[in-house]
Amino acid sequence: MTVGIDSLAIAVPQRYIELSELARARGVDPAKFITGLGTRRMAVPDPGEDTVALAATAVHRLLDQTGVDRSRIGLLIVGTETGVDHSKPVASHVQGLLGLPRSMRVFDTTHACYGGTAGLMTACEWIASGVAKGRVAVVVCSDIARYGVGTAGEPTQGAGAIAMLVTEAPRILAIDLGVSGSSSADVYDFWRPHGRREAVVDGHYSIECYLDALGESYRSWRAQARERGLISPVATGLSSESLARVIYHVPFPKMANKAHAHVMRLELDDAAGHADAALDPVVVAGRFEQQVAGSLRVCAEIGNAYTGSLYFGLLGLLESEAGALANQRIGMFSYGSGCVSEFFSGVVQRYAARMVGDAGASAILAQRTAITIEEYEQVLALAADAPLPIAPSPGGYRLEAIRDHRRIYVAG
Ligand code: CAA
Repeated sequence: MTVGIDSLAIAVPQRYIELSELARARGVDPAKFITGLGTRRMAVPDPGEDTVALAATAVHRLLDQTGVDRSRIGLLIVGTETGVDHSKPVASHVQGLLGLPRSMRVFDTTHACYGGTAGLMTACEWIASGVAKGRVAVVVCSDIARYGVGTAGEPTQGAGAIAMLVTEAPRILAIDLGVSGSSSADVYDFWRPHGRREAVVDGHYSIECYLDALGESYRSWRAQARERGLISPVATGLSSESLARVIYHVPFPKMANKAHAHVMRLELDDAAGHADAALDPVVVAGRFEQQVAGSLRVCAEIGNAYTGSLYFGLLGLLESEAGALANQRIGMFSYGSGCVSEFFSGVVQRYAARMVGDAGASAILAQRTAITIEEYEQVLALAADAPLPIAPSPGGYRLEAIRDHRRIYVAG
């Protein structure tokens, strides 16, 4: 049985800023944000576009696009690290807003940016186990990345939701179930204490934690993939070259460069049997362009979408290259601070180009509005319970108000 991602849909905030303008406003050389971090634009949600509203809009589009019979949905999982309540899950709001059937499991998964992957793997394994009995799952990643004005993390904010239909015989990506490498540790690299809207982060340490976790996860995945015969020895000694593409969790696009160089270095070290094998920067840059760069396009438009980031990478890659990648294996690396990570793989399916095209991501991104840095600062200063009085677009949802601690949403 093949199991994986059958179709997907997205929702992003209506406004964005140019990172070159943010740099100038902060008195920073724009090259630091554009070249140093690889960022270009950043989504700016107002309080009306909260985690629930983005998730519900993405699911509405997914159901519209696929026409899936709602009674066949047996599982709804929202992966998020920016939920709206300590107890009531985002998933319950989504179920209510979309009028989904009562006869299903509905819950959130939280472990920083890994929550979406936790949901995806749970859904795939639920189907593969046979327990689903022909039913399908909806997995949503929805988040708002917020560090605050003037902080080092400010240029790495962002937001967005991506909803995935997970089925047998999927039409986008069949996951290599049972072949995945995980690594976890108890670290304080990035976290968000109760009551705070902004994350607390030890930025440079978080990059170290990400790369450490990547090394362990990748080596574990590689050993399993070799054992299962999914990858064969490559003349250069770089097993990662047997993957057509590799998609990384993207807190900022330059992180993917660091990640791929790290994988290449550890592979050369493993092949040489010592830890200082020479790495030619021109070769690294060439492999990055070929294997990774194509997945960064959408991420560079919205910024960090936390749980959704890896899957926005998948969408961006397949929007332009699905035809050429049909039947080829790609690698994916999910990282959640705190920390846990997973390197896994899957095979691009022959209908992927059509299914990803149906998401209409380019059109959705093109309809957004650019705002000035002054307007961005005003939006950021709005209280979480003071959404702008804007009507949602058709098929969209917005938070309208919070009364008696209850969140009230309005549909377009
Ligand atoms: N021209 C070109 N490049 C320049 C430059 C200039 N004028 N000035 C600086 N740079 C380069 C630097 O050399 C550096 O590049 P390298 O890393 O390749 O050396 C890059 O720009 C960034 O510069 P700094 O390291 O000085 O930047 P910083 O200290 O201000 O902050 C950051 C960078 C730590 C990533 C910060 O933005 C941050 O804390 N972000 C949030 C945390 C984060 O995203 N962590 C990632 C791993 S954790 C994770 O993945 C989970 C998650 O989603 C949060």
